[in-house]
Amino acid sequence: MIAKQINEKPASVLGLATGSTPLGTYGKLVEMNKAGAVDFSHVVSFNLDEYCGLSRDNPQSYHYFMMKNLFSHINIDKRNINIPNGAAKNFDKECKRYEKLIADAGGIDLQLLGIGRNGHIGFNEPDTVFHNKTRKVELTADTIDANKRFFEREADVPRQALTMGIGTIMAARKIMLLAGPDKREIIDKLKTEVVSPQLPASILHYHPDCTIIFAKGK
Ligand code: GLP
Repeated sequence: MIAKQINEKPASVLGLATGSTPLGTYGKLVEMNKAGAVDFSHVVSFNLDEYCGLSRDNPQSYHYFMMKNLFSHINIDKRNINIPNGAAKNFDKECKRYEKLIADAGGIDLQLLGIGRNGHIGFNEPDTVFHNKTRKVELTADTIDANKRFFEREADVPRQALTMGIGTIMAARKIMLLAGPDKREIIDKLKTEVVSPQLPASILHYHPDCTIIFAKGK
């Protein structure tokens, strides 16, 4: 789907995700790019989120993750890579800047998503309302617990992050959500079609062009 999007529109604007789930997808895109089956030279990318307080060269930052697992292996123009700056001095300003960059790029053509085990997309945690735009958020205890595997100590996991909002994600023209067998429970809940900010991914039921790919496992 991603390669098709780029082949049909070489200057596609992609929304990209981190986490272990899209690693296989990124590996495949690297292979395809090396084989000449997909060309990233005109692609513009926007990542969903970033931890607050981590500089881009911190190995735990999403910036570092994206460079290591995708961007340094493909022919994307580095000037076209956009990731919220978790080391910004003024987060409010940074979030507004990010929203404007997305709008100026013409909006997102294809947004790739993972899902948190609590149903979050990006870092939009379960809440009483759906938040619209890119903003600073407090991470829930569940997310800190789920993501501590990437850090030496749980205390090292940042407590805050910058994330695209639910509105930012929903404005993408096409969405693809990937989930592996470890997400069975939350995918089962998503299937009930009850749309609630307590399960942020449930808003995707209202998106006109969203594909969920769930690898059930054995
Ligand atoms: C993090 C990211 C999400 C991602 C989620 C799932 O919390 N902010 O965008 O979808 O992790 O990650 P994994 O694929 O490792 O389960």
